[in-house]
Amino acid sequence: MPDCPAIRVVPAGAVSRPELLRLDVRAAQRPYVGIIADLLADAEQCPGCEPMAILLDGAPIGFYRIETRPGSIAGRDFAEPTLGLRAFFIDHRWQRRGLGAGALAALLADLARRHPAARQLALTVNIRNTAGVALYRRAGFADAGALYHDGPAGPQHLMLRALP
Ligand SMILES: CC(C)(COP(=O)(O)OP(=O)(O)OC[C@H]1O[C@@H](n2cnc3c(N)ncnc32)[C@H](O)[C@@H]1OP(=O)(O)O)[C@@H](O)C(=O)NCCC(=O)NCCS
Repeated sequence: MPDCPAIRVVPAGAVSRPELLRLDVRAAQRPYVGIIADLLADAEQCPGCEPMAILLDGAPIGFYRIETRPGSIAGRDFAEPTLGLRAFFIDHRWQRRGLGAGALAALLADLARRHPAARQLALTVNIRNTAGVALYRRAGFADAGALYHDGPAGPQHLMLRALP
């Protein structure tokens, strides 16, 4: 996975709110992640959720949240200590430049520092989201088998990646 030193991940609370609120995906991608205002509001209500900003040279270009209670990811618990990844996105003005892959590398390094006991990272991705599925496969995520059918935009793959 590419290591991009210009990319950092930080808690969303450390970033100016108006700058975060400018982040968006393409209209056709919104069913996969929603809009940033709702994501931030939801994260504030959600115990065990860590909203994170992706920075390029110090400026926000993306967002995600880490779930420390991963049962909510696919409606089931996991045998190993597991974290969940939700709502990962790169702002539409910055997509297709390798930044999504670089952000995942920074995210994984951050988890190794802040959650060293976690053994795997789980996420769901819509089966129609070819960009998302391709990105996650290239970053070492593997399909966990059965489809998860409870997503708002249709069936999703449950994908897992071992954490170092
Ligand atoms: C998925 C997403 C994060 C990818 O970010 P990105 O910065 O554009 O990705 P990168 O440039 O790092 O691309 C890495 C790999 O992802 C895949 N990929 C990215 N965009 C793609 C696209 N439009 N079509 C097909 N594959 C794509 C490719 O495998 C690509 O590698 P390549 O460029 O060597 O072919 C971005 O498209 C996005 O934010 N989408 C909307 C939100 C979303 O769907 N998030 C996932 C929710 S689970």
